[in-house]
Amino acid sequence: MAGIPVITVDGPSGAGKGTVSHMLADALGWHFLDSGALYRVVGQACLIEGVSWDDHPAVAAIARHLQVSFSAAPSGEILVAYKGRDVSREIRTEEGGRGASTVAAIPAVREALLVRQREFLQAPGLVADGRDMGTVVFPAAPLKIFLTASALERAERRYKQLIEKGENVSLPRLLEDIRERDARDSSREVSPLVPAEDAIVIDSTATPIGDVFAQVMQKVREKGLIKA
Ligand code: C5P
Repeated sequence: MAGIPVITVDGPSGAGKGTVSHMLADALGWHFLDSGALYRVVGQACLIEGVSWDDHPAVAAIARHLQVSFSAAPSGEILVAYKGRDVSREIRTEEGGRGASTVAAIPAVREALLVRQREFLQAPGLVADGRDMGTVVFPAAPLKIFLTASALERAERRYKQLIEKGENVSLPRLLEDIRERDARDSSREVSPLVPAEDAIVIDSTATPIGDVFAQVMQKVREKGLIKA
């Protein structure tokens, strides 16, 4: 796979990585890896198979044999299936996020998903969204972005999304969830959430997502990944 370019977009939950990564993949006509979705499917698969998130050997076995598939709905939404069963909605709940970050701290799970993530690297290029894309999965990536925002801003964004969907949520609870997940993701021993040394760090707290995207596209041109 040498020579196929990859842009990594890492950062904490709710920093806008997904939006920016999708915009980038669309603009460049490149493939897209939502690595968080893989961890979320592992968490969900445990619930389906009756495996506790704390049973590390059993969770790792699920990750090694994970039957997951991605497809695009006519609306453009990415559908995620486990063993052919659509789990797109379940994996995006707050419980789905908790499950993902719990199983993601298990070294054997990360190991099992490593090869699978690298298989997404296909011509003409890949935009990889996650926590350790630039540090562990694609350390040779020519462009690494680390997108962050304050915990309060991220909680408020999530709050607005959920309220628009008609869900009954509390902002303090969401803020607490985000802080807990940040702490778990940043303090784990394997692949903790940290910017790669050569990552470009962008804080989106007070910057509209369109401006963040424009900044990233500028870097894409500077790196010669597309013709200026
Ligand atoms: O990105 P998303 O919020 O879907 O990720 C869910 C969880 O999966 C994160 O909180 C993190 O614990 C885990 N994750 C990870 N490494 C990645 C992507 C996600 O540990 N590359």
